[in-house]
Amino acid sequence: MQTDVRPESMERITTPELAQAFIEEQVAAVREQVGDGKVLLALSGGVDSSVVAALLIKAIGKQLVCVHVNHGLMRKGESEQVIEVFGNELDANLVYVDATDRFLGLLEGVDDPEAKRHIIGEEFIKVFDEEAAKQEGIGFLGQGTIYPDILESKDGVKAHHNVGGLPEELNWELVEPVKLLFKDEVRVVGRELGLPESMVERQPFPGPGLGVRCTGAITRDRLEALREADAIVREEIEAAVAAGTADLPWQYFAVVPDYRATGVRDGKRAYEWPCIIRVINSVDVMTATVPELDWALLHRMCDRILAEVPGICRVAYELSPKPIATVEWE
Ligand code: XMP
Repeated sequence: MQTDVRPESMERITTPELAQAFIEEQVAAVREQVGDGKVLLALSGGVDSSVVAALLIKAIGKQLVCVHVNHGLMRKGESEQVIEVFGNELDANLVYVDATDRFLGLLEGVDDPEAKRHIIGEEFIKVFDEEAAKQEGIGFLGQGTIYPDILESKDGVKAHHNVGGLPEELNWELVEPVKLLFKDEVRVVGRELGLPESMVERQPFPGPGLGVRCTGAITRDRLEALREADAIVREEIEAAVAAGTADLPWQYFAVVPDYRATGVRDGKRAYEWPCIIRVINSVDVMTATVPELDWALLHRMCDRILAEVPGICRVAYELSPKPIATVEWE
C-alpha cells in the first residue's frame, strides 16, 4: 500500500506528460492492489472523487461500484448532475442513495463542528457498509482523499471526513490513488483522463457538504435558505465569468450562521439570518486570499438573495484570508 508521506523527490504534476505517467503508474498500482476484487467508491461529484472514479473506471471498469449518497447537505441540483454525468454519460456502475432524513435526524440539535463532522463521516461509512452488503464481494473502499486532507488531519486542524471518520472495525482496504496530490495536480490528472472541463474546473466541495456552512445545529429551514443563497452566489459568479467581467475563483459559496439579526420587511420588524458570501483564491488550498469582486456583482448577489431567499435579511462579503481563517466556517 502507498505511504501517507509525499516523497521530497516527487515532481509536481503540472504537465500532460507528467499526468499521463502518474495515471499509468496508478492504473497499474490499482490493478495490482485490487486484483479481481470489487471497489466501492464514495462519489460525491466533487473534483477529487470524480477524478478517482475516472481513474478507477480506467483501471478496473465494472469492478468499480460508485455510490452517490445524498446526505441532504448537497448543493442545489448537485445529485441530479452526478446521476446525469456518471450514470448516463459515463455509464458507470452507479448506486444512488437518498439518505437525507437519516443524516438530518442524527444531526438534529448537534452544534459542535467536530461532532457534526464525525457524525457525517461515520454515517457515510455505515451507508456504504449497507450498500456493500447488497453488493456481491466488495473488498475495497475507494476514496478521494488528497494530500491537504492528510496534512491537516495530522496537524489536528480539523478532522476531514475522508480520514478522521473511519471506524476502526472497517474491514475494507482503502484505495486512494490521489492521496499524495495537491488540488492543482488532481485537476491536471482529471483533464488527462478526459473528464469534461466543467467537471475538472468544478470548485471543491467538502465531504460534510453544506453542513459546515450551516453553522451550529442544522435546521431544515436554515439549510434550505443556505442552499438557495448558495445557488444564487454560484449562478451570479459563473454568469460574470462567462461575460468576462470576473475571473473564476477557486471557491465561492454562501454561509448561513445560526444567529439572527434585525431587519424590516414589508414595514414590519424582521428577525432573520445573515448570509455571508465567501470567495477565495488558492493554488493548493493550504493558504487562500480573497479576490476583489466587482461592486455591481456583489450588489446583484445581495439584491437577489434578499429578494428571493426567505429568512435572510442581510448579506455580507467576507474578507478573511487563510490563515488565520480556514476556508470553511466549521
Ligand atoms: P479548510 O476549511 O480546511 O478547507 O481551509 C480547505 C479545503 O478543503 C475543503 N474541505 C474539505 N474537503 N472533506 C473534504 O473532502 C472535508 O471534511 C473538508 N473540509 C474542508 C474546503 O472546502 C477547502 O477547499
